[in-house]
Amino acid sequence: MDIAVIGTGYVGLVTGAGLADFGNDVICCDIDPKKIDALNNGQIPIYEPGLDKIVSRNVDEGRLRFTTDLGDAISRSRAIFIAVGTPPKPDGSANLTYVENVARTIAAHMNGPKLVITKSTVPIGTGRMIEQILEESGNGQKGSVVSNPEFLREGSAIEDFLKPDRVVIGASDEESIELMKEIYAPLHSLEIPFVVTNVESAELIKYAANGFLATKISFINEVAQICERVGGNVQDVALGMGLDTRIGPKFLQSGPGFGGSCFPKDSSAMATIARAHGYPFQIMEAVLRVNDDIKQRMVTKIVDALNGDVKGKTIGILGLAFKPDTDDMRDSPAIPVIKGLQALGARIQAYDPQSMENSRAIFENIDYCDDAYGTAEGADAIVLATEWNAFRALNFERIKKAMKVPNLIDLRNVYDPQRMKALGFYYSSVGRAEDVRKAVSA
Ligand code: UDX
Repeated sequence: MDIAVIGTGYVGLVTGAGLADFGNDVICCDIDPKKIDALNNGQIPIYEPGLDKIVSRNVDEGRLRFTTDLGDAISRSRAIFIAVGTPPKPDGSANLTYVENVARTIAAHMNGPKLVITKSTVPIGTGRMIEQILEESGNGQKGSVVSNPEFLREGSAIEDFLKPDRVVIGASDEESIELMKEIYAPLHSLEIPFVVTNVESAELIKYAANGFLATKISFINEVAQICERVGGNVQDVALGMGLDTRIGPKFLQSGPGFGGSCFPKDSSAMATIARAHGYPFQIMEAVLRVNDDIKQRMVTKIVDALNGDVKGKTIGILGLAFKPDTDDMRDSPAIPVIKGLQALGARIQAYDPQSMENSRAIFENIDYCDDAYGTAEGADAIVLATEWNAFRALNFERIKKAMKVPNLIDLRNVYDPQRMKALGFYYSSVGRAEDVRKAVSA
């Protein structure tokens, strides 16, 4: 099928490349000529494992191209995916200006029936709003709107697109559903379930899924706080909970709170949407409060490890991205942790395998190091903030030798407390009271 994908950010680019890989003819559009020029020169503007390969393969095979000419792309396409940003407004609701503008552009270039699909995470009711714009100014042509939310995780987005757990299609007519099934045809042979529903439910599924995963994280982060107080080990508790198939083992890893481009934004948007509809979503609001609180507690944990005073102390931060395998620092827990320590007078030196450039735009006042060993140099403490694989098997003798005081604060529970202690570190982690009392091993 001839498809236009509007917006070549993270979601748009992965969607465009993935749809082309399914055999569709895809034009990816963006109003930013610099982005399109770069893409036409084979440069991928974001770090996402495997994205460069899938883009170049589909460009070479003639199924994927890039343009700034939205009108032309719309006229040529039967289906148009909207994948522009919906950044949060100060009140937590999503800014729909870009989506609205795209809807108007589509309406202005309707030269036949168009299937318009929202991929961006949009507030409930946005599909209907787009439908209205197409109806009012769509040259009398039929515009059907479908909600088809993405569930892409940064770092494994290509795999998530090509082999999703499910495809959600929110539509109001049979023809649209059939067209969507055609677009995703290769997924039928993989027996991927399709959830077909109305537009509002599909829009809500995205928020509810992200909100629920965020809830699991805030829940286990609170359990970790209790573990520290009662002498428990949160990893054992998570395992014991997660083996109940009704709960499941995923998203029960405690740490410094969730970040990234989705969970904080979508949880907050969901709470705002609920309030706007006259219902305070109490659990979601608590999940957000816990997430803010946990980040501050991480600062306290580090300060405590340094005997209550970080003024003039050098603290090395391992990892700045909100999670491994991405250069994304949006809402990264490392940000409030660093700011909190700086406010107390600490000097910060840091290293991240991918997000140093993004970090420089946020923090000018930290020293950037070449690797983990540089981060340990002369430090009074090092803090593992992002669980990159590269940090799992460090030469800890070398790390310890480089440090002024061997304080190691592991915010991701990556290291074995007993081993770290045997190596001579003053080690602390999250929700593992076995840091002080060895749990019975299974
Ligand atoms: C998430 C959703 O997984 C994806 O389906 C959606 O489309 C976009 O948002 P992403 O933001 O890429 O994807 O990251 P994810 O791997 O889900 O992690 C989000 C945050 O939660 C990270 O800060 C991570 O460190 C944290 N997290 C995750 C935990 O603290 N504990 C866990 O057990 C899992």
